[in-house]
Amino acid sequence: MSILLVSLLFGLCACGNENGAAAGGQDSPAPQEAVADTQEPETAGKEEETIENEEPAQGNTEQESAVAGTEAAAVTQAAAGDTAAAADTTSVETAESSAPGSNALAVYFSRVGNTDFPDDVDADSSASIRVDENGLMGNAGQIAAWIADEAGCETMEILTEETYPVNYNETVDQAKQEQNVGFRPMLKADEKAVEDYDTIYLVFPNWWGDLPMSVYSFLDSHDLSGKTVNVFVTHEGSRFSGTVGTIQELEPGAEVLEGLAVQGANVTDEEQNIRQWVIDHRN
Ligand SMILES: Cc1cc2nc3c(=O)[nH]c(=O)nc-3n(C[C@H](O)[C@H](O)[C@H](O)COP(=O)(O)O)c2cc1C
Repeated sequence: MSILLVSLLFGLCACGNENGAAAGGQDSPAPQEAVADTQEPETAGKEEETIENEEPAQGNTEQESAVAGTEAAAVTQAAAGDTAAAADTTSVETAESSAPGSNALAVYFSRVGNTDFPDDVDADSSASIRVDENGLMGNAGQIAAWIADEAGCETMEILTEETYPVNYNETVDQAKQEQNVGFRPMLKADEKAVEDYDTIYLVFPNWWGDLPMSVYSFLDSHDLSGKTVNVFVTHEGSRFSGTVGTIQELEPGAEVLEGLAVQGANVTDEEQNIRQWVIDHRN
């Protein structure tokens, strides 16, 4: 039954979305295989993970073939680009200090801010792209904005030096290739002095059952020891996957807490839940 529900959900999310930015849809990657390449398999036994683990059985063959066909190119890219390339740590010196009285920062990564969409992108037909007074906004950005509003803090976006393709399927393929080789995208300089904050709300989309590789770049370039890291994931069925545990492994000195897993297609319905989580957990 859950297979049918997730399949139906992905189908609905992809429907009428020319940019394909709404969701995994039929393009939804195979989280289990993706994770197997780079880290421990996801924690078994969590009910929420059952949905994710069932989904790939619904026919990712085509997706996997497409990924396999381009894997060699990914390896070349990684070799040329130096897989160890990490974020620009010099940003710490130049970034703004935290605002007086605020000890929290909402850090997010989203496909939207990392893609050069044309001005006439059809945001109306996409569940993942919306327009507000600041321009285009993705699901992770929207979640971070609500968190920041409720926590009385600022936001900071994780931005890659190289943008992702406008075409959704191409982004999905590239993300898989990056994951396969453990690629660490170069990041633009941080806009905030991350080390100055005590609490980090970390918001990102589930990409192939894992953190986007840009979030690995971010974590590689910061020691979050002594901080509380509240993890919020937006997804289209996979929920957290193993991301909370992965972040805890990467930041052993931090207290990493599971925040909320917010389905992208329903993000606007989740505003109150997100705000309430912040109220319930802020110091
Ligand atoms: C490259 C890529 C990989 C994705 N992989 C998954 C996945 O494994 N599981 C899932 O539930 N959703 C997956 N999605 C869907 C996104 O997590 C979801 O649409 C999210 O709400 C997008 O957030 P954003 O608008 O901030 O980018 C993927 C999307 C992309 C672009």
